[in-house]
Amino acid sequence: MSVVDKINKDRLPNHIAIIMDGNGRWAKQRGTQRIFGHRNGVSSVRSAIEASAELGVKFLTLYAFSTENWNRPKIEIDALMGLLINTINTETETLLKNNISLKTIGDSDSLPKAVQKKLNEVIQKTSECNGLTVILALSYSSRWEITNAVKCIMNDFSKGKIKPENIDEDTFSKYLNTSGIPDPELMIRTSGEFRISNFLMWQLAYTELYFTPVLWPDFNKEELYKAIVDFQKRERRFGKISEQL
Ligand code: FPP
Repeated sequence: MSVVDKINKDRLPNHIAIIMDGNGRWAKQRGTQRIFGHRNGVSSVRSAIEASAELGVKFLTLYAFSTENWNRPKIEIDALMGLLINTINTETETLLKNNISLKTIGDSDSLPKAVQKKLNEVIQKTSECNGLTVILALSYSSRWEITNAVKCIMNDFSKGKIKPENIDEDTFSKYLNTSGIPDPELMIRTSGEFRISNFLMWQLAYTELYFTPVLWPDFNKEELYKAIVDFQKRERRFGKISEQL
């Protein structure tokens, strides 16, 4: 029996977010270059997208490149950007065929022009798709996102468009990159690290966290199903007590 049969289809997380970690260690274990791990990580990206679409999950956010990742060696950054372009080139048709739209969050202006162009193309092409939405976090960090939101609020304030007394949590959320996207119910981090690493810090306030030692290139559909089954065992109280639920 596959783990998928244990999933209650009526209680699926609407939005799953993943910190895809461990590509470098996976490559090192095999005595190969880090980029070999990233290349194999692309198959896991495909599996996670496919499994989410098949189950009927509505949003999947993947942390593909953090603001801090700009500090990696240039050769690795260039390889990751190249991999991104190649993957988009080979996968766009599949996205369209499966009614999957692509969005990004993060400081897209800091990405190489060729990457920006490719992303805009696929975002535009898939904009009418209304099945799964895949959100790539690229040059993303929560501190950047929150600081950026404050700048935008200040800008609107100076134009008289917003007053301090009108700012509540909902208003603030609208200034984040994830405006219009529901908060994740489940956040998965692979590779045995127990950190949030500047990922969706506002949005994860009540998210269930799932950590697995599996390295990202080994993360297949079964591993995603396991995370969902674990999520479905949890009682989500949102500050209330069990009897109130
Ligand atoms: C973390 O592993 C992984 C990344 C920083 C990049 C993730 C990229 C991919 C899976 C491939 C391209 C993605 C798309 C969406 C096409 P790490 O390098 O931090 O591993 P380590 O912690 O073992 O060194």
